Amino acid sequence: MIADVVLGIQHGDEAKGKVTHYLSKNKNYTHVLRFNGGCNAGHTIYHEGKKFVTHHIPAGVFYGIKSIIGPGCVISPEHFFEEVKELQEAGIQIHGKLFIAKNAHVITGTHLQEERSETKIGTTRRGNGPAYRDKYARKGIRAAEVSSLGSYMIDLYEEFHGDKTIKVLCEGAQGFGLDVDWGDYPYVTSSHCGVGSAFLNAVDPRWLRDVWGVAKIYETYVGAKSFEPDEPVFQALRDLGEEYGATTGRPRQCNWLNLDELKKNIVLNSVNKLVINKMDVMRNLGQWKLYHDSSLVSLESEDEICNYITMQLPNNIEIFFSDNKNRI
Ligand code: IMP
Ligand code: MG
Repeated sequence: MIADVVLGIQHGDEAKGKVTHYLSKNKNYTHVLRFNGGCNAGHTIYHEGKKFVTHHIPAGVFYGIKSIIGPGCVISPEHFFEEVKELQEAGIQIHGKLFIAKNAHVITGTHLQEERSETKIGTTRRGNGPAYRDKYARKGIRAAEVSSLGSYMIDLYEEFHGDKTIKVLCEGAQGFGLDVDWGDYPYVTSSHCGVGSAFLNAVDPRWLRDVWGVAKIYETYVGAKSFEPDEPVFQALRDLGEEYGATTGRPRQCNWLNLDELKKNIVLNSVNKLVINKMDVMRNLGQWKLYHDSSLVSLESEDEICNYITMQLPNNIEIFFSDNKNRI
C-alpha cells in the first residue's frame, strides 16, 4: 500500500494541478483522492495541449484513474455537474472513474447565497465556509442524502480496506498558508490543508511514501488582507506570472518568497519532495529576492538563489526548481 500526498505550502495557486497531473501520469496510482476544500479551489491543468480548470474533480480523471472526492471535502452539486459536463464535452471519460465519499458534506444553494457579497475575508464566495460551519454545527447535509449524486457514491472504508492493493495520490487543495489552524487567522479557508488532513480520509498513515510540497519562487495571496508591498515591481510580477485567480479572476497580491514560512511549512508537513515553480517568471523579471530571518535578501542570480534556498532548508528533501512553461 502506498500513499503520496501533494500539498500547497504557500497560499494556494502554487501549481499543484501541474504536479498532480504529472504524478498521475507517471506513478501508476490506483486512486487519486481530493481530501479537503470545495469548489473554492481552481486547479489549472494542461492535458494533451488543452487547458482545463478543475474545482472539485481530482486530476486522476485525465488518465482514467479512479478519482474520489473524499469525506474531508464539501461539494456543490450544481458546480460538480457543471464540471462533469465540461470534462465530458472535452472527451474526458468520467463514467465509472469519478466518485464522491458518502460522508462528504454538501454546499447548498443557501450556502452559496449566503456568501454572495462576502468581503471581510475575501473568500472565493463558493459557500465553503458556511458548508463547513454547518457540518461542525451538526446541521449539514451529507452527499449520501442528495439523490442526484447517488450514482457517484462510494464508501471509502470498503474501497481502501478490502483486499485490493491501494496506491493512492492524495491531492490537497488551497495551501498550508490558508490552513484554518496554521494560516493567518481569520484570513484562512475553513478546512485543514496539511498532510494530516489526508489521513482523515481513510488513508492509513503507514502507507505514506512521499509528501510533495509545492511552492512558487515568489508568493501570491488572494483575499482581504493587505499582502503586497506598495512597489511597482509587483504589478510587473503579476503580469509576467499571469497571477489572476483561476476560480474568481481576481488579481493575486504578490510578494517575494518567504523562506521562513516555507521552511516551517515543510517541517510541519513532513515534505520530502519540494517543487519550486515559476523560475522563468522571476528570470523574466530579472530580480532575485526573498525574505529570510524576517529581512529582505537580494541575490545576484538564479544559481545564487537556488543555492541559498537549498542551504537553508532541511537537507533530507529533494528540491526541483521548475519553469512555468514546462507544462508537463
Ligand atoms: P474560502 O476558502 O473561499 O472561504 O476563502 C478563504 C480564503 O482562502 C480567501 O482568502 C480565498 O481567496 C482563499 N482561497 C480559497 N481557495 C483558494 C485557492 O484555491 N487558491 C487561492 N486562494 C484560495
Ligand atoms: Mg488555484
